[in-house]
Amino acid sequence: MGDVTIAGTGSFLPSFVLNNSDFEMMVDTSDEWIVTRTGIKERRICPKNMASSDMGVEAAKSALKDSEVSPENIDFIICATVSPDKFFPSTACLIQAKLGIKDIPAFDISAACSGFIFGLEIARNLIAGGGYKTGLVIASECMSRLTDYTDRSICVLLGDGAGAAVVKASETPGIMGSYISSDGSYGDILNAPAGGSARPASFDTVEKRLHFMKMEGAALFKIAIETMCEAINKLLKRFNMKKEDISLIIPHQANLRIINGVAKGLGLPPEKFYVNIEKYGNMSAACIPVALDEAAKKGLIKKGDIIATVAFGGGLTWGANLIKWTK
Ligand code: ACO
Repeated sequence: MGDVTIAGTGSFLPSFVLNNSDFEMMVDTSDEWIVTRTGIKERRICPKNMASSDMGVEAAKSALKDSEVSPENIDFIICATVSPDKFFPSTACLIQAKLGIKDIPAFDISAACSGFIFGLEIARNLIAGGGYKTGLVIASECMSRLTDYTDRSICVLLGDGAGAAVVKASETPGIMGSYISSDGSYGDILNAPAGGSARPASFDTVEKRLHFMKMEGAALFKIAIETMCEAINKLLKRFNMKKEDISLIIPHQANLRIINGVAKGLGLPPEKFYVNIEKYGNMSAACIPVALDEAAKKGLIKKGDIIATVAFGGGLTWGANLIKWTK
C-alpha cells in the first residue's frame, strides 16, 4: 500500500450573509439565544442561480490551483453531499463536466456531516491500492434548500458552502489513516422525511413541509460528543500516539458547545480546535474542508504537523482522519 497526501485545499463561500438579527424578523428567536446556545453569528446563503455543483466546482478550482495540479491530471472525483443538485446525475459528475474532465470515475457519497472524512478515506484507499494517482475530494452543501425557515429549532443553525482537497500519491505518509463508522438505527433523529422513494413528493408531503430537514437536537448533542471523542481516541490508539501529538483538530462545526464538549471529553484545551462556526454555521459535509482550507491558508498548519479532522452527522455517521501535513 502506497502513501497518500493532501496536495492542496480550496473553498467557496457564497457572498450573501444572513445575520442572527435577520432571523429575529422571521421566527421567534434572538441573537442572544443563537450565540449563547450555538456560537453562530452569521451564515452564507447560496444564490438562486447556483446549486451544490456550482459551489463545488469553485472549491475544486481553488484546490487545483493551491496544489498546482491541472484538471487533466485528476484520476477521480468524489463529492460528499446531502444536498445534491438532483437525485442523478451525481453532483460529482456535474462538477466533472464543469471542469471539462473526461473519462474518469466521478461519484457522490452520502454520509451527511461526516461526508468529507468518509471521502478522504475512500480516496486514500483508491490511491494506496495503486489504481489511481491523484483525486479530488469535494464537499458541497446547499443546506438552505433543505431548511424550513419557519422552524426556529433548525433554521438558525445551517449555512451553505463548499470545500475541496486534491489528494495524491506521495513518497511519505500524509493521510495516515481514518476511523469511520455508522449506526443506521439512529436514522430518524436527523433526516429529511420526504422526497425520496419511500415518500415521494406529493401535495401532502409539500403541505406538511416534509422535504425539509428534521432533527432531535438534544439527543444528537450528546451522541455527537461521545462519537467524536471515540473516533479520535480509537485513531490515536491505532497509531500508538498521544493526544498531545496532535497540533490542531479540525472539528465539524455544528455547535460551539459540542466542540467544547469534545475538547473537555478528550482532555484538550479548546485552543487546539479550529473554530469558524460564528461566520458560517453548520454547512454539513462542507464544514471540515472549508475550515481545513482556512486554517492552512492562515498558516496555522505547518509542514510536519499532525492534525486530525473529526465529525458526526446524519445516518448516524461519525469519524476522524489523522493527517501529517506535507505541504
Ligand atoms: N430561538 C429561541 N429559542 C429556541 C430556538 C431558537 N432558534 N430553538 C429552540 N428554542 C427553544 C426550544 O423550543 C426550547 O424551548 P422550551 O424549553 O420552551 O421547550 C428551548 O429553546 C431549549 O431547547 P433545547 O432543544 O433544550 O436547546 P439546546 O440547548 O439543546 O440547543 C440546539 C438546541 C442548538 C439545536 C442543540 O441541541 C444542538 O446543537 N444540537 C445538535 C444539533 C446538530 O448538531 N445537528 C446536526 C444537524 S446538521 C446535519 O447533520 C446536516
